[in-house]
Amino acid sequence: MLHQSTKAPGEAVAAPPPTGTVRLTINGQQRELQIAPWTTLLDALREYLDLTGTKKGCDHGQCGACTVLVNGKRINSCLTLAVMQEDAEITTIEGLGTQENLHPLQQAFIDHDAFQCGYCTPGQICSAQGLINEGKAHTEAEIRELMSGNICRCGAYTNILAAVKEVVDAKTA
Ligand code: FES
Ligand code: FES
Repeated sequence: MLHQSTKAPGEAVAAPPPTGTVRLTINGQQRELQIAPWTTLLDALREYLDLTGTKKGCDHGQCGACTVLVNGKRINSCLTLAVMQEDAEITTIEGLGTQENLHPLQQAFIDHDAFQCGYCTPGQICSAQGLINEGKAHTEAEIRELMSGNICRCGAYTNILAAVKEVVDAKTA
């Protein structure tokens, strides 16, 4: 029986993508990955570390669903390569609180009913923690403006604002 090849004569066989070792510190733990150098931090978290609390919305820096903290600063993890964060302390939603000991922002989101589908929520909470770390937002207008990169398709903005404001106020009281 003739073997039928899908390759044209002389056509090169695609090489597997090159991988390298990337060492990340995530939620206080050292993790080592073998990944292609172009792997985004978002894909490293979700696809290689099973940290799926960080969500992929647009994958283009437009929605904020993928927000994590890098050295306490909020960033869109879809817009940075994992390899660029080797020396950083990365915090995801999984590192902010536990089921038994919720982070104040997590508790405030529950108390204020600040989510519907919940898809944007991890990014909202990480972004709010970054906002608090920045210490710039005090009024509702400032919080609204400085959280404007985090889109909520369910339109839970009023309740998100109330939740974040409660924690901002508690920090500055
Ligand atoms: S998934 Fe990163 S900003 Fe939308
Ligand atoms: S709660 Fe559904 S997108 Fe925000």
